[in-house]
Amino acid sequence: MNTNRLSKTLAAALNAQMTKEAHASQIYLSYAAWADKEGFGGIANFLFRHAQEERNHMMKLLEYILKRGAEVKVTAIPAPPENPVSVNNCFEKVFEHEVDNTKAVYKLVKMSLDEEDWATWNFMQWFVKEQTEEETLAMNLLDKIKIAGGEKVSSNSLYSLDRDLETTPDDAKAAQDVTADNP
Ligand code: FEO
Repeated sequence: MNTNRLSKTLAAALNAQMTKEAHASQIYLSYAAWADKEGFGGIANFLFRHAQEERNHMMKLLEYILKRGAEVKVTAIPAPPENPVSVNNCFEKVFEHEVDNTKAVYKLVKMSLDEEDWATWNFMQWFVKEQTEEETLAMNLLDKIKIAGGEKVSSNSLYSLDRDLETTPDDAKAAQDVTADNP
């Protein structure tokens, strides 16, 4: 008896997304190592924590594929891109990466909609919300560095930014969770 509840195409796309999240984790890991080597321990700490979050995203996808009775295919993870050349560039790369991942998530949502696979559509809504939060988080990083001077940021501002990011929460607040009393 066939208990697989995922189509071939959706199973392949979910597996690809699982690898993409593992790739994201490697990207954050490599940027974190770069930041630490450059002396930015706080930024490194923030990025290391985020690498772990991406591993969790990977696990969610793996678990979902298994729970739907399909096959998980663990494959090679592509190498992360080149190291950033500055903190400003690092945050730009983080933002671009998150937008790229959002596009992949949207594709999966569209595929599940087209196939009328409502279980997958419903599961993917968690990722839609998560990506909105992650883009917000990345935009906040860009705002901070922009205020501090962008590529022309002074060492004093970098010092404060680095200390700030040591304790910056891992998640940004989603618009859905905001109220007039608690903006
Ligand atoms: Fe798993 Fe940053 O997206």
